[in-house]
Amino acid sequence: TIQLMNKFFLNLGKQPLANNYQKKFLKKQVKYNLKLYFNSKTKLVSISKRIPSEKMFNNKYPYKSSMSVTMKNSFKILSKEIKNKFNPNLLLEIGSNDGTLISNFKRNQVIGIEPCKNLAQITKKMKYQTYASYWNFNLAKKIKKKHKQLDLLYSANTLTHISDLSDVFKSINHVLSKNGVLIIEDPSLLECIKKNSYDQFYNEHIYLFSAISVEILLKKFDLQIFDIKNLKTHGGSLRYYIKRISNENIKISKSVKKQIHKEKKFGLDKFSIYKKFTINIKKSKSKLIKILKRLIKQKKRIIGYGATAKAVTIMNYCNIDSNIIRNFTDTTPDKINNYMPGRNIKILKYKKDILKKYDYVFLGAWNFKDEIFKKEREFIKNGGKFITHVPKPKII
Ligand code: TYD
Repeated sequence: TIQLMNKFFLNLGKQPLANNYQKKFLKKQVKYNLKLYFNSKTKLVSISKRIPSEKMFNNKYPYKSSMSVTMKNSFKILSKEIKNKFNPNLLLEIGSNDGTLISNFKRNQVIGIEPCKNLAQITKKMKYQTYASYWNFNLAKKIKKKHKQLDLLYSANTLTHISDLSDVFKSINHVLSKNGVLIIEDPSLLECIKKNSYDQFYNEHIYLFSAISVEILLKKFDLQIFDIKNLKTHGGSLRYYIKRISNENIKISKSVKKQIHKEKKFGLDKFSIYKKFTINIKKSKSKLIKILKRLIKQKKRIIGYGATAKAVTIMNYCNIDSNIIRNFTDTTPDKINNYMPGRNIKILKYKKDILKKYDYVFLGAWNFKDEIFKKEREFIKNGGKFITHVPKPKII
């Protein structure tokens, strides 16, 4: 087991389950404390309250990675890279969501694993082999029995959602071949701290990884990072390329030391940086509220763009309701006409002209700023303005 030596650093208040969009606004929605901790031994940053996976990842999970061109492109580029560099016989994706990555492969080349049944159904319909299950040792045993060992495992924005990391890597170890490669990508803790994007934290994001913590974690499982790429996705992510320590055929790239050095220089391995972060986040909260309230005084109409899990953290932490942000807008079918979890703000279906009725747009999906700005040229041309809290609350 992973030893806990947790030090508390930030309380983001009572938060509802981030993807639990409601048809009707429920005043008494169940909320959980969202508190952040740093483990001085494992260097992992995590939240304290662990919600059972079944409550979050079920047959009604709304999030679809195909909703943004940026993610689709990122997965397409990676697919090409995987084919060219590693050419695996069989690839297994842990957390295949609606198949945005695996649909770049032939049906006999990939297996998807997706516990959210509504999403697993999508890739099954596309005739991709999909296990509608949680990633755990039982499933790993089943997979090994059927497919023998696998030479490539991939997982994006999923492992940080699983509480028991020991089981995660034990299970990976069970199916990964001797010379196999594991690729994982998740939001980067360094980018989160630098950008004051405290909205990376919600009940699903149990951990926020750094190269430092991943390296420590992997050692216990005879695994090591051999390459790291910085990605722009999700506000700054790291893609870790991982192999067995015993596999000496693959060279370790300089990128690994470079990233770890960068993180240590910034102080990610020391508690003091998190205390600074806390001060910044408290400032960020009051500044954002100040900006929004000023605009409301001036009778400006504000809408949120991208009903993200991240925005749920912000709305609940900053106590923002529909008297400040009238609505959100989003393209995701299962979010439309629902309420932001914990808030009385209704999500409207995205239409081309929707922004016309508003003066200011709060960027809920600030991580897709470029994509959104491109799409909303008309609004910008007509004097429309955006509000973001990253890296500091401001109007752009
Ligand atoms: P994302 O930032 O990936 O989410 P989370 O914080 O939940 O992990 O989600 C982006 C959301 O924004 C998703 O619900 C789709 C929506 N979206 C739009 O509505 N329009 C757009 O142009 C883009 C890029 C995203």
